[in-house]
Amino acid sequence: QKLDLELAAIEKGGYDHFMLKEIFEQPTTIADSLRGRLVLNEQKIILSGVDAIQDKLANARRIIIVACGTSWHAGLVAEYVIEELCRVNVEVEYASEFRYRNPVISSDDVIIAISQSGETADTLVALERAKEQGATIFGIVNVVGSSIARISHAGCYTHAGPEIGVASTKAYTAQLAVLMLFALKLAKAKGTISDERFNELCQELNDIPEKVQWVLENEVDNIKAIAYKYKDARDVLYLGRGYNFPTALEGALKLKEISYIHAEGYPAAEMKHGPIALVDEELPVVFIASKDAYHEKIVSNIQEIKARKGMVISVMTQGDEVTPTISNDVMVVPEADEVIAPLLTVVPLQLLSYYIGVYRGLDVDKPRNLAKSVTVE
Ligand code: G6P
Repeated sequence: QKLDLELAAIEKGGYDHFMLKEIFEQPTTIADSLRGRLVLNEQKIILSGVDAIQDKLANARRIIIVACGTSWHAGLVAEYVIEELCRVNVEVEYASEFRYRNPVISSDDVIIAISQSGETADTLVALERAKEQGATIFGIVNVVGSSIARISHAGCYTHAGPEIGVASTKAYTAQLAVLMLFALKLAKAKGTISDERFNELCQELNDIPEKVQWVLENEVDNIKAIAYKYKDARDVLYLGRGYNFPTALEGALKLKEISYIHAEGYPAAEMKHGPIALVDEELPVVFIASKDAYHEKIVSNIQEIKARKGMVISVMTQGDEVTPTISNDVMVVPEADEVIAPLLTVVPLQLLSYYIGVYRGLDVDKPRNLAKSVTVE
C-alpha cells in the first residue's frame, strides 16, 4: 500500500491532486492541440480530418454538435464561434436527449461529436443513429482509438494527454482549441472571414498558452483567498453573456462536481426572469465579465446584483477599471479577443472550484457519485 501511495504521488508530479496538475498542464496541452495545425507564418490551418469531409462541410445545411457534460459546454462555445465565423446554422444537443427524440437528420447534416473519453454511451448511440440516417460524423475526441473515434467518418484528436481527475479541465480547453481551429479553417474555406480577421484570430489562438500561464503564475494566491472566503456558500450563481455564457455554465458545473455546492449558470440577461429572486447578502454571484462587445451590459447586470446586496466575484480583463469598483472580489485574466477568450476565462473558475473543494476537505479527484467515463445510459 505504501508503494501504491508513492506511485500515486509520483504520477501527480508534485501536485496534491490530479485536478490541480491537469489545470497547470494547460499551457502545454493547449499548445499541443495547436502544434502542427496552426501554421502562423503560412497563415493556414492544417486539419486533415476537415479536409477529408471538406465538401460535406462546405455544403452542410447545418452542423449539429452532440455531447454530454463538460464536452457539451465546449459545444456551446463552438456554436457561438462557428455561427459567427462560418455563417452556418449550428445546433447543440445533449446526446441523451438527441438519441431518444426523433430528430430530423439528413445527409446534408454534419454532426460534430465531442467527447474526452470517446466512450460515453449516450453520445455513441446518438452518433450511431445519426449515421444510419446519412449524416456525416466528425469526432473531436481525446482518447485515441476510442469507440467514438472509430465510428466517426473523420475527426481530430485533442491531444490533451490522459485526464485522471473526474472533473474535466485540460480536456475541455483542448476541445476548445480544436473547435476554434475547426471554425477558422472552415471559415477560410467558405470565404466567410477576411484574411485580416483570420490572421488576427490565429495570432490570438497562438498567444493563449502564455496567457493561461500568466493566470497560473499571478492569480493563484488571490483565487485561493477568494475560495477560502466563499467556501461555505450554500448556492452560487454564475452569469455571463455571449461567449461568456457557456463559461458560466462550465464554471457552475465545476463547482457542483468538486464542492457539492449548489451552483447554477445562467445567461446574465435572463437572471431577471427568475434567478434574481435568489439574490440576498448571502449569495455569491460569479460574473464572467471579461472585455467584449457586451461589456457595458454585463456591468449593468453586476450593478443590479449589487443593488440587491449580492456578493459579486468577477472574472475580468487586466486593466479594466470599472469592474473592480462594483465587485467584492475579482479574478484577472490578460486581454484576449472575445472569440478566443473562453479558453482563458474558464481557468480561474477551474481553480476556484478546486480550492473550494480542497478547503471543504473533499476528494476533488474522485467526487462522490461521479464517473470519469459514463459507459451506461
Ligand atoms: C462524465 C465526466 C465529465 C464529462 C462527461 C462527458 O460526466 O465526469 O467530466 O464531461 O462525462 O464525457 P466525455 O468523455 O464524453 O467527454
